[in-house]
Amino acid sequence: MAIETIINRQSAIAENEADDIELPRQSVYAVCNLRGGIGKTTLSFNLSYLADDLLAVDTCPQGNLSYFYDNTYYAGQQTNVKDMILPYLVPGLGKAARVAAYIGATNPYFSEKNNYYIPSSEELYLLPSQLITAINQTAGLQQEQRVQAQKSILYSLKTEIVRECAENSLEKCLIDTSPFFAGATQLAWYAADALVIPVRTDQQSVKSLELLINTLSSPQSEFRKYLPENDRNVPKIQMVVLTHCGWSTVAGARNEPNQQTKVYLKKVYDILSKHRTLLSTNDPDNHLFMLDDFLGSGRISSIESKPIELLQEGETKVIDRVRVSVNKSVGKCKNQLKFIARQLW
Ligand SMILES: Nc1ncnc2c1ncn2[C@@H]1O[C@H](COP(=O)(O)OP(=O)(O)OP(=O)(O)O)[C@@H](O)[C@H]1O
Ligand SMILES: [Mg+2]
Repeated sequence: MAIETIINRQSAIAENEADDIELPRQSVYAVCNLRGGIGKTTLSFNLSYLADDLLAVDTCPQGNLSYFYDNTYYAGQQTNVKDMILPYLVPGLGKAARVAAYIGATNPYFSEKNNYYIPSSEELYLLPSQLITAINQTAGLQQEQRVQAQKSILYSLKTEIVRECAENSLEKCLIDTSPFFAGATQLAWYAADALVIPVRTDQQSVKSLELLINTLSSPQSEFRKYLPENDRNVPKIQMVVLTHCGWSTVAGARNEPNQQTKVYLKKVYDILSKHRTLLSTNDPDNHLFMLDDFLGSGRISSIESKPIELLQEGETKVIDRVRVSVNKSVGKCKNQLKFIARQLW
């Protein structure tokens, strides 16, 4: 029955008529799944437009989110997330301050928003080994000092996010992550109150959801094994967002997912049912949402760094010599994104 609950709710969401769900609202979310190209950055970018007083943090060395906010990002001039973390790993480096940049200054679509971001850095590719080296260096310390030193390293990103939010009077934070756990993603998990997990409608994405759940829950995992004893600071799963969903085009079918979408909806639902203690409520019905394939709207949004919310049906753009248009379903996508944003903050 539960899959039907979710499909019916999606119909209401499409019409902007769905009731909000009683999920605990958190302040810091990491958008994460251990697989590339499934929509983490696209979702982060669009959700960041739908909140106010928000700090977005780009922890992916590819820097795609930073580029959405500032098309000159790859020139590499900004103080960035690596500058914030490194002083916790390498003694003697000065701590960073006021790293966050006002998004409206470089992306005019955000000029009405009081939103900021921490740029990424290509050098984050080196963070996994720097992190392990720093943790290993604490081995020679007395027990109490060692725990303190390790905590300072593991919670470095969290400490910095709290500081940046306080400095800029921000209350919400969204962290975009890379597809790899070691390094900045690991720090993002220690920093986050809860996770938002995009899963694409394919088998590999379901596998990576299982890997993520294992990393989150197994005592032996890279994530859990470094947690100080009695530390219950494990992020909950706020939601899984099934991305690239498609709908039946059979005559007479109304809001019926297509076969592929249905198969993966069921698989993901079954996984969440099995691991309900990891959810921010214990009811899997509250934690699974669908996001359509954005089609032409997605391409225009991404090439113009323009949030989907601001696209108008019928808008067109020539991309790679082909005229692409904002399709009719853009209204539905906007409602899906707004509903997801409302279940976060
Ligand atoms: N809902 C969607 N509908 C259609 N296309 C999408 C959707 N979400 C993302 N895409 C497209 O899929 C591609 C990958 O998206 P995105 O960069 O957000 O993934 P990612 O998970 O952040 O990837 P990476 O792990 O490499 O950082 C992009 O071309 C993006 O435009
Ligand atoms: Mg990305």
